[in-house]
Formats: sequence, structure tokens, C-alpha cells
Amino acid sequence: MLSVQSNMTRLISCINGPTLNLLGDREPEIYGRLSLDDIGKLLNEEAVGMGFDVAMHQSNSEGVIVDMIHDARKNAAGVILNAAAYTHTSVAIHDALRTLSIPVIEVHLSNPYARESFRAKNFVSPVVTGSIAGLGPTGYVLALKALGTMIPSS
Ligand code: DQA
Repeated sequence: MLSVQSNMTRLISCINGPTLNLLGDREPEIYGRLSLDDIGKLLNEEAVGMGFDVAMHQSNSEGVIVDMIHDARKNAAGVILNAAAYTHTSVAIHDALRTLSIPVIEVHLSNPYARESFRAKNFVSPVVTGSIAGLGPTGYVLALKALGTMIPSS
């Protein structure tokens, strides 16, 4: 049975998958020079004026990301998700996302469709509200702005 979700809070859960902990160092020509902490700061600067709190999460483990999505059902008003490589492989994350009734925006720093063909397979896009790819860290900020248009003020 799906539990009742509370939309009283204006918490946005920003969930990040494998190897995004290395942002800034990792292939900067593809992913840029900002760290995940830097992106969290950008989001929180934007969030203040919107009446949101953004909680940044990252894990390299598929099951932990599933748990983070389950937690969002209880405590978040919206989700920003970069599932990283699991985007292209994870039925478990797909199924967890299907249990959410809050808006979810998928973000990718790079444009997976312009890269290797294995990145064209996407288990996340069919079960999220919308997707942003190829805009670097700006994509995260745009995702937050999009959530602002979807989540009623409390
Ligand atoms: C990514 C794109 C994925 O294909 C890749 O596996 C990542 C990062 C991005 O943000 O561009 O780890 O999600």
C-alpha cells in the first residue's frame, strides 16, 4: 500500500548517483569544474527566495538511492534526481520512482543522447515529471525553478 505523502513541507530532495561525488575532478571537460557541494550552494542560494530547503544526497549504491527515493515519499515536496550511470541500467530506481506522487525532475550535466549509444537507454525518463540534460550545473537550478511552478506554497 502506498503511504500518504505529506506536502506540508517545502523540502526538495536532490538525489545524486554514482561518481557524482567526484564532480569537479571527474572528466571536467564533460562534467565541468564545480563540485557537488558547489552545486548544492547554487541550489540553496536559489531556494531561499523560493521558500524551499534543498537537501543534497549522494550515493554510489543503487539500493541506497532507492532508499533515498522512499524517504522522499515521506519528507519531500519535490525531487531533483541525477541517477548518473544507474539512469541507463536500474529497474529498481525506475520502480521506486513509480511510487512517488510528488514532482520529480531528472537532471544530467552532460547530454547522454549526444554520447555513447549505451547512454540512450533511460529507465528514469518514463517515470519522472520532466528531464533536463546538457546544461551543466544550470540544469539543477532550472529543475528547482520548475519545481517552484509545480509545488503550491504552504
Ligand atoms: C550523467 C550522465 C550519465 O550518462 C553518466 O553515467 C553520469 C553523469 C550526467 O550528469 O551527465 O554519471 O548523469
